[in-house]
Amino acid sequence: MVLLDGFPLVDEFPLDPQLLYLNHAAVAPWPRRAAMAAQRFAEENLHSGATYAQQWLEQEQGLRQLAAKLLNAPQAEDIALVKNTSEALSMVAFGLNWQPGDKVVITDQEFPSNRIPWEALSRKGVKLVTAKLDQAETPEAAIAKACTTNTKLISVSSVQYASGLRMDLKAIGALARQHQALYCVDAIQSLGALTFDVESIGADFVMADAHKWLLGPEGIALFYSHPKARTQLKLYEYGWHMVEALGDYDRHEWQPAASARRFECGSPNTLGIVTLKGSLSLLLEIGISNVEQRVIANQRYLRKRLEKDSRIQILTSDDPKRQSGILHFRIKDKNDDYHKALYQSLLDQQLICAYRHKGIRLSPHFYTPEPVLDKAVSMIRNAL
Ligand SMILES: Cc1ncc(COP(=O)(O)O)c(C=O)c1O
Repeated sequence: MVLLDGFPLVDEFPLDPQLLYLNHAAVAPWPRRAAMAAQRFAEENLHSGATYAQQWLEQEQGLRQLAAKLLNAPQAEDIALVKNTSEALSMVAFGLNWQPGDKVVITDQEFPSNRIPWEALSRKGVKLVTAKLDQAETPEAAIAKACTTNTKLISVSSVQYASGLRMDLKAIGALARQHQALYCVDAIQSLGALTFDVESIGADFVMADAHKWLLGPEGIALFYSHPKARTQLKLYEYGWHMVEALGDYDRHEWQPAASARRFECGSPNTLGIVTLKGSLSLLLEIGISNVEQRVIANQRYLRKRLEKDSRIQILTSDDPKRQSGILHFRIKDKNDDYHKALYQSLLDQQLICAYRHKGIRLSPHFYTPEPVLDKAVSMIRNAL
């Protein structure tokens, strides 16, 4: 049995031994306790419906508390439970009061979820400025170059989805403050894998879906908002669940909850909540700095073994400060079709990975055992 600080990891991740699962940057497997929580909830519904629904509310509050811990948010009330990262980004983009000529700064490596909502603001006269990360000494210097007096918001991914580039979130936060701009962080590629501190980076909004490094289900996401920034967002979804006096159905006067619950219009995704709560409890019990150490060690181990092969070009930065759980590589002098075929052949052999931005992306998590990494490296080398 593989143990990490006393945790029986094989018990928590009883993955099919045929699979080399290196795809946590896409969709992750659930740990056993998350799957069990989902099963228990299904059984409960099967046998007693919503008889014990009062306990569901406790689960919901419990999840907010775990999420606040993970983000180092001052209070659970700062966390809304929404559908996905894209929904939270859209709530920010379409909630703010824009003036024609206002600018939003993003980077040229963003996943479409952190580009399309800002592009959709063009009909309001908002201009999108894209920082070219490779065209300055550091990614943050590129963002600084893109900021002007009209910059009203900076939105970046904490880790870029293809290259795995880890952004200096503190430096970008300082830049946002210097420009009196709001600061939005899409944390889906780091939350659950790397330490995160919403207070020290000074973010106004942070969002992350559960199905990647958080090891949870699709369709539920954490959405942090700073109390001051929160009130700047106009609301577009209304219902019984987002009012201050929750549960007082006879009351006709209402106001939106002061907490982030104002972004949750109706019945919550309780199945997602109980499942994700299981996943977060595991990550927090192990400790997110322990998780981070292992995630980085696994990524570096893969890199070290792959870069020995002169046919392979590692695309992920070799600066340790810039590294995350993602390793991105290409085969030298080969075109996109070659890489697509390589990806398909790896997938056919049960190496679960991704083809992203002209290369192959590997993303082991903290629990991925070294023999799995070794087998993946051999499989890749044999496939060339
Ligand atoms: C950086 C980043 N943001 C957002 C998403 C998608 O998020 P969601 O499906 O939760 O909207 C992804 C998915 O790959 C991503 O890598």
